Amino acid sequence: MDCNIDPKSVVINVIRQKLLDWYDQNQRDLPWRRERDPYRIWLSEVMLQQTRVSTVIPYYERFLKVFPTLSSLAEADEQKVLKLWEGLGYYARARNLFEAVKEVQKTYGGEVPSDPADFKKLRGVGEYSSAAVLSIAYQKPLAAVDGNVVRVICRLFMIEDDPTKSITYKQINTTARKLLDLRRPGDFNQAMMELGAIVCLPRSPQCFKCILTKECLAYQKGKAEELPISKKTRPIPTIEYAAAIIIKERHCLLHQRDRSGMLGGLWELPAIEKRNRKKIELEQCFSSLLRNPVKLKKRTSLLNHTFSHQRWKVYVYPTESSNPVPDNKNNWCWANAEDISALPFPKIYHPILPDIISRLQTHLN
Ligand code: ADE
Repeated sequence: MDCNIDPKSVVINVIRQKLLDWYDQNQRDLPWRRERDPYRIWLSEVMLQQTRVSTVIPYYERFLKVFPTLSSLAEADEQKVLKLWEGLGYYARARNLFEAVKEVQKTYGGEVPSDPADFKKLRGVGEYSSAAVLSIAYQKPLAAVDGNVVRVICRLFMIEDDPTKSITYKQINTTARKLLDLRRPGDFNQAMMELGAIVCLPRSPQCFKCILTKECLAYQKGKAEELPISKKTRPIPTIEYAAAIIIKERHCLLHQRDRSGMLGGLWELPAIEKRNRKKIELEQCFSSLLRNPVKLKKRTSLLNHTFSHQRWKVYVYPTESSNPVPDNKNNWCWANAEDISALPFPKIYHPILPDIISRLQTHLN
C-alpha cells in the first residue's frame, strides 16, 4: 500500500505555514471565533459535534443570551437547558455539558480547567473536545482530530486504510501532532477544520481552490475524491410507532423519555411500537400501558424523522380514554397548553404541537 505517513519535516513546515496563512485570510467570521471565554468556546465545540456550523449559530447565540456565563448555566434547571437544545439533536451532549459545568463550578471555582487531565475527567469531554477547547481557549499544544481533519490528512498523505481502524486512526493522530503549530495551536486546529469544511469537502473536494495541491499526495495521484475510504454504510432501519393524544380537562398526557437513552429527558406522547399491529391490537396495548380502556379515533398525522442510525414513523391518533393511569408516575405528566410550549420535545413531534395546543384550548379530545 502506498502509504506515506512519515512526511519530511520540510513538507510539514510548508503545509503548516500555507495553511495558517490561508486561514488568516479566509476564515469564516463565526461567533465563537470572537470569544475568549473558555466556557463559550467549550459550548461551541459541544454544539458543533456532529452538527453543521450554519445549524449551530442560532442555537449558540440563543443559548448564550439565556446562559451568558458558566455559573449561570451551573445554576440552571435542566429542562430549560434541554428546551434551548430542542431540535439540535444528540441531547446527551446538553445533559453532559450541564453536569460538567456544575462540576467545574463546584470543584474548580467556575474556571474551566486548563490541564487536559482535569478537563477530560468532566462528563462528555473526550480526546477531541479536550484538544479543541484547550488549544483554542488556552493555547495548549494539542491536536484536535475530527472527521474533517481525518479527511484532510488521509488525502494529504494518501492514507488508503480505513481511518476507523484503530491503528490507522493512531497514524492520523500522530501526523496531526507533527503538523500542529505550537505557537498557534488553536488557530492551526481551526485551520485544518476550516479547510475540511469549505475546501476539502467529502464528496466533491474543491481542489481548484486549495492551497495545498502541490503537497497533497491524493491530488497528485487524482485520488482526492476516493479518500478517505469508507466502510459500506448499513441501511438505516425504520421503526414505526403509534402515539396517542389523550386529553382530560384541558391537559394532555405526556411521557418523559428515559434520561439515559436516546432523546433522554425529552417529552413525547404516550407511544408504542406499531409492529404491524391492527388498530384493535394497538388499542389493547395502549389500554394495558395506561391501565384503562383506550379507543383510538381516526389517525390525524404521520410524522417522520431520520436519525443517524434509525428512521422513525409515528402514527398519531386522538383517543378516548376515561381515566388513564400510567404505572410509573415519575415519567408522566398532564400538561396544559402553556406546559406544552415550555417543555422540550423531540423534533419529530414539533409539527403536531400546535394542533395539541389548539385541542387543549378548545377542549376537543
Ligand atoms: N467544527 C468543530 N469546531 C469548529 C470550529 N471551532 N470552527 C468551525 N467548525 C468547527
